[in-house]
Amino acid sequence: LMAEKGGYRHFMLKETHEQPRAIADTIAGRIVEGEGRIHLEDLRLGDEELGSLDKIFIVACGTSWHAALVGKFLIERLARIPVEVDIASEFRYRDPIVTPRTLTVLISQSGETADTLAALREARGKGSKAVAICNVVESSIARESDGVIYTHAGPEIGVASTKAFTTQLVALFLFALHLGKTRGILDAERSRALTAELLTLPRKVEEALLLDGAIEQIARDFVGATDFLYLGRGNQYPIALEGALKLKEISYIHAEGYPAGEMKHGPIALIDEQLPVVIIAPGNDTYEKVISNMEEVRARGGKVIAITDREDSDLSDKADVILVLPQIADELMPILTVIPLQLLAYHIAVLKGTDVDQPRNLAKSVTVE
Ligand code: G6P
Repeated sequence: LMAEKGGYRHFMLKETHEQPRAIADTIAGRIVEGEGRIHLEDLRLGDEELGSLDKIFIVACGTSWHAALVGKFLIERLARIPVEVDIASEFRYRDPIVTPRTLTVLISQSGETADTLAALREARGKGSKAVAICNVVESSIARESDGVIYTHAGPEIGVASTKAFTTQLVALFLFALHLGKTRGILDAERSRALTAELLTLPRKVEEALLLDGAIEQIARDFVGATDFLYLGRGNQYPIALEGALKLKEISYIHAEGYPAGEMKHGPIALIDEQLPVVIIAPGNDTYEKVISNMEEVRARGGKVIAITDREDSDLSDKADVILVLPQIADELMPILTVIPLQLLAYHIAVLKGTDVDQPRNLAKSVTVE
């Protein structure tokens, strides 16, 4: 079994470290060199069809739903089409407003999640075209969709999703670029710049994984906590949700993800000396606002674990722990910020002695309602 795990103690750790390769495999062959054009081999939707869309729904469950929330930012920013995100079990029962000019995107690692499959049938029944982002070739959701963008993560065994998630984000980025180009929103220069950034991603994920040792130490310092709060803004809010979900799933510690700007409307009441607060603070447009959240947490005695890409920043008096990531275009930053959160959840779970790869009460794929 150790051999199957490639020398790693758990599948989750192996799969976390496989991310640079999985991401490179998901990009491979999809950027038409020089032209900055995106080639999605199984998309099966023509430029005309993509040009006539007036709305996109992205529907999924669990970690794949967090990818969907990032996808909304990507598609709205790069292609300027309104995107609505829904949880599959909600979408399927609420008579969603779907027309033939709606595109429904289903995200599912396994391609077999019962609620997501039902959502796909609901959308297609209303005349929407459907595109699946799946990791398992020829899975039910992939087969029943009009088009597919496969993630090339390889088999994911650990119940807590890692490489499937980051490759879903890569697939969404490629799709958003493709939409932006075909709809005339992105010019050649901008799309070339973005594809060039994408090509640096595997190396930067590799660099982010070098934080592993430091994070193991942080896990020792915080393993005794009974609650965690994760904060992020904009495209980092879904990463705050994902960080909290990872911790809940495998360490059984209660955790909540919140949009940082909402802290003052509730979660601030929870802050005391016992509460670690993970704050995702890349140096983007809302950096200063997130820094003021840090100050508010510290002023109430909370412990701040800061994740940033700003080496020059003056966070030393604002955070108890600072993890510095490499820099990349803001559209791709969620793929880097999630790495330390995966590792933090992993090391805390190992210290607590839980069953990391098969946490209690959870299943890798939920094929019944
Ligand atoms: C289960 C798994 C999660 C996963 C979710 C959706 O709950 O434990 O890790 O995110 O299903 O799975 P899917 O295969 O549809 O992405």
